[in-house]
Amino acid sequence: MPLPNILTIDGPAASGKSSLGRRLADALGYLFFDTGVMYRAVTWLVLKSGGDVNDEFGVTVLAENVLIDVRPPSKADGRACDVIVGRNDITWETRRPEVDANVSQVSAYKGVREALASQQRRIGLRGRVVMVGRDIGTVVLPEADLKIYLDASAEQRARRRYDEIIARGEEASFDEILAGVRMRDEIDSTRAFSPLKAAEDAIIINSDRLDADEVYQYVEALCR
Ligand code: CDP
Repeated sequence: MPLPNILTIDGPAASGKSSLGRRLADALGYLFFDTGVMYRAVTWLVLKSGGDVNDEFGVTVLAENVLIDVRPPSKADGRACDVIVGRNDITWETRRPEVDANVSQVSAYKGVREALASQQRRIGLRGRVVMVGRDIGTVVLPEADLKIYLDASAEQRARRRYDEIIARGEEASFDEILAGVRMRDEIDSTRAFSPLKAAEDAIIINSDRLDADEVYQYVEALCR
């Protein structure tokens, strides 16, 4: 059987989509594209320019006009990719807590989604791609050959995100992370436009009792 040409991985915050996607893409020699970084980049640019994330019109105009370049990682500092806007590398800025706190609000705007999804679709249709997000199997690339929906309890996901931050030598509060994960789940899954949900033909994996390696082995076997 031929390998799937387009693979999508959707699921809630911190469910392990990015590490799974990156590993699969490396093994298959495919492009890894984490679409969340585009929503994060727009959110960071709004905050940095002193804009208001509640100003739907202003945020949408920014999303329609900004060119976000997502490239293979140029540094081995734990990043999955470089996020470049103009000449600026904003990779780590997009991971700041204020971005976490506001990104779901920005991602709920219809115009923002349309602007970013059309760029994502154009890249995805080239094939040989593992694309990760919330709506990739449902809206951006419904024709994908293999769709995974990766889930886990909010506690488990918050624990993993907390461990990641501590491993980077930064400080974090587990309770705040858990509250943030729950808030994003709520906004992402109840928004009117392309909410977070599994595609009807997606394979749903709950990783509460599986470690990253077991999830990877399972999906890798599905691909082959
Ligand atoms: O890595 P994590 O799961 O924390 O988040 P992310 O994948 O970087 O996505 C950040 C936010 O962007 C999500 O909470 C969604 O609000 C939004 N997003 C989206 O709406 N659609 C996508 N395809 C990807 C991300």
